[in-house]
Amino acid sequence: MNVPLLDLVAQFRTIRDEVLPSLMAVIERQQFILGEEVAILERRIAELTACRHGIGCASGTDALLLPLRTLDLRPGDEVITPSFTFFATAGTIHNAGGTPVFVDIDPATFNLSPAAVEAAITPRTRAIIVVHLFGQMASLETILEIAGRHGLPVIEDAAQAIGAKRLIDGRWRVAGELGLVGTLSFFPSKNLGGWGDGGMMLTQDDALAERLRRLRTHGGNRQYYHDEVGYNSRLDTLQAAVLLAKLPHLESWSAARRERAARYTEALAGLQGVCPPPVDSANQHIFHQYTLRVERRDGLVEHLRASGIGCAVYYPLALHRQPCFAHLGYREGSLPATEAATASVVSLPVYPELSQAQQDAVIAAVRRFYQ
Ligand SMILES: Cc1ncc(COP(=O)(O)O)c(C=O)c1O
Repeated sequence: MNVPLLDLVAQFRTIRDEVLPSLMAVIERQQFILGEEVAILERRIAELTACRHGIGCASGTDALLLPLRTLDLRPGDEVITPSFTFFATAGTIHNAGGTPVFVDIDPATFNLSPAAVEAAITPRTRAIIVVHLFGQMASLETILEIAGRHGLPVIEDAAQAIGAKRLIDGRWRVAGELGLVGTLSFFPSKNLGGWGDGGMMLTQDDALAERLRRLRTHGGNRQYYHDEVGYNSRLDTLQAAVLLAKLPHLESWSAARRERAARYTEALAGLQGVCPPPVDSANQHIFHQYTLRVERRDGLVEHLRASGIGCAVYYPLALHRQPCFAHLGYREGSLPATEAATASVVSLPVYPELSQAQQDAVIAAVRRFYQ
């Protein structure tokens, strides 16, 4: 049986009659730029994430870049970030004029190690980016406490963690709620994915929201008047219409991912050479990815592909070892937990439409390799 890593066609079949009329409504009105669907989606996502403001933009990458621009970074200013993340987290620091300072992860959750964050703070540190990787929130409360002591803003990169929650001081808090800015991506493969690129910035801060709105329209809030140099980075109305039609399903989709994750973990726990992803008991994981840590990873990937099972390695080369950051001087061994993760992780299909028979085929293929 062939099992793709992700099956967006299967998802489309289940929502076709909801999405197509929403798209047609935009097409009938021909209001493609900042049409009413964008404002409605911004309100709904702000509600979902317990934020005062949601500001749509062109991608999850721009959702990071624009808030970083508000820091007015100068050459040599440092922003702390994990190295075990998608490239955009650090690429945007560079493009906003700063220097990424890469720190190591907690090997269990793949998320930033708070102790490593604290150790990396210098007089040049201007901000910390926390990534909630694979759909599980980082130890945000500890990092916020450290940041607070040093007077540093925290940006939450929640591109992979829309709606993920963490129990903090007895209250469930949502990814993006507590940082100065939270950022989302609507890349098609995300738990809430558009039919193209899209992103959103979240904040509780009214003045910052105003500035981010300006930055997404060339730095001005009146047409043809520009307070600063900004970007053309708006969330497309057609994308907002797709996302609005999909949004009512998000909770059940993420719950279905959690069920599939639990089924994998039950089936694979105890298998020699395989370590299922632990979920921090304070977290409600949304399983954007189900990522195992395994022995003989490259052999497993080859075996799965030969068996028709989709899988992927997120991420094979950590950002501190990328050629474009070679000038920063990190060496092999600089971030041992990160490098160990890049050598041993593999992600399996975990989407809501994955049938039990398909999942059984994935489990059987993994078992065959290790038994
Ligand atoms: C952790 C993380 N940050 C940022 C991004 C960038 O989002 P986008 O692809 O929408 O630009 C992604 C998306 O893949 C991501 O996974």
